[in-house]
Amino acid sequence: MKQDMIVILDLGSTENTVLARRIRDLGVYSEIHPHDITAEELQALDNVKGVILNGGENRVVDGKAVEIRPELYDLDIPMISVDYPGSRCGTQLQQLPGEEALKAFVFDTCKAEANWNMKNFIADQVELIRRQVGDGKVLLALSGGVDSSVVAALLIKAIGQQLVCVHVNHGLMRKNESESVIQVFRDQLHANLIYVDASERFLGKLEHVAGPEQKRKIIGGEFIRVFEEEARKLEGIEFLGQGTIYPDIIESGTKTAKMVKSHHNVGGLPEDLQFKLVEPLKQLFKDEVRACGVELGLPHSMVYRQPFPGPGLGVRCLGAITRDRLEAVRESDAILREEFAKAGLDKKVWQYFTVVPDFKSVGVKNNARCFDYMVIIRAINTIDAMSATIERVDWDVLQRITDRILAEVPNVNRVCYDMSPKPPATIEFE
Ligand code: XMP
Repeated sequence: MKQDMIVILDLGSTENTVLARRIRDLGVYSEIHPHDITAEELQALDNVKGVILNGGENRVVDGKAVEIRPELYDLDIPMISVDYPGSRCGTQLQQLPGEEALKAFVFDTCKAEANWNMKNFIADQVELIRRQVGDGKVLLALSGGVDSSVVAALLIKAIGQQLVCVHVNHGLMRKNESESVIQVFRDQLHANLIYVDASERFLGKLEHVAGPEQKRKIIGGEFIRVFEEEARKLEGIEFLGQGTIYPDIIESGTKTAKMVKSHHNVGGLPEDLQFKLVEPLKQLFKDEVRACGVELGLPHSMVYRQPFPGPGLGVRCLGAITRDRLEAVRESDAILREEFAKAGLDKKVWQYFTVVPDFKSVGVKNNARCFDYMVIIRAINTIDAMSATIERVDWDVLQRITDRILAEVPNVNRVCYDMSPKPPATIEFE
């Protein structure tokens, strides 16, 4: 089934995404495309019912205001413009249309049908994946993060055993995280899952390495090497599944926004390992990815989990990683997550975790002097992770977490709460 689509042409607006989201919220699919799309390219998109020329403050690029190609006006597709002198299109607005005006354009003028929902999306993608892959095999690095988990579930639905998932445990996962990936994907969804416990290998490479950037490089590089070794053992793999999502595409594809960020997921694989990419989530915003995961039956805890950095607990065990401090981070993080869930904060707070610095402080345990580590709790709220404010956690909840960490986590004698917003602090410590 083809979904009706409203195309937004990016003529320098900072609100393309907001507009696309609003149209999708009406149940109509919407995509953002660059201003210089050709008539042919626009027609090649399926079922375009209307176009919005979305101008704005970034319209001047290299000293020149960008324009659409005049040939687009000759297409038989309804158009409106926003903050853009589309001389030849029907309605010109100075700002984004309000709810009623948007509905009138989408449904009355464009006659679009509200057929954008996750059931239809999944049915379409299953079709498309089967058509693309045929009887080939797809390889997927399954970290257990939201995007890779949802891609895996979708690919399993489409091609079952033709999908080979590789889960690399780098030894820096949170408590029970790898176990839950195995439980969900191997036991419940019967995925073809290769589990690689590379903990010792990673910890060996990271021994005595204190620099944050160097730690990240080692973890990222080693991950690619382990994944590559597994890929080479397998035969007849033609495709690589990727959890690319729509914001990645918009961010790397815009021609007007000032900050262009390229995206890279499993980047850096050697040239001779050439795969064709399967990216079934590339049309979805993050909350739609989650809705897709729910629709596919993935557990709530997996679909709604908080962001977790690729280098994992490696950047929360500050300085050179040692096993005792890594254990302290893992155990204290588990306690924090448990207590936040009990207090209902897991649904409210954007990201929360613990950190263990690489120094000790003096304390008293069992009437004797002790010299132990410190656990720092961080809980923040943000919209885009570019800036963040701290959560004002209830004192009693913090006290309970502190008591449990001090009683249950070995080698710890002190718990602190980080009060710093971003900026000047970053969310992570390294
Ligand atoms: P910072 O520390 O830069 O973090 O304020 C912003 C957000 O990004 C996450 N983060 C990472 N995510 N790989 C990731 O996939 C990384 O190397 C990485 N470093 C930070 C961080 O957890 C926060 O949500």
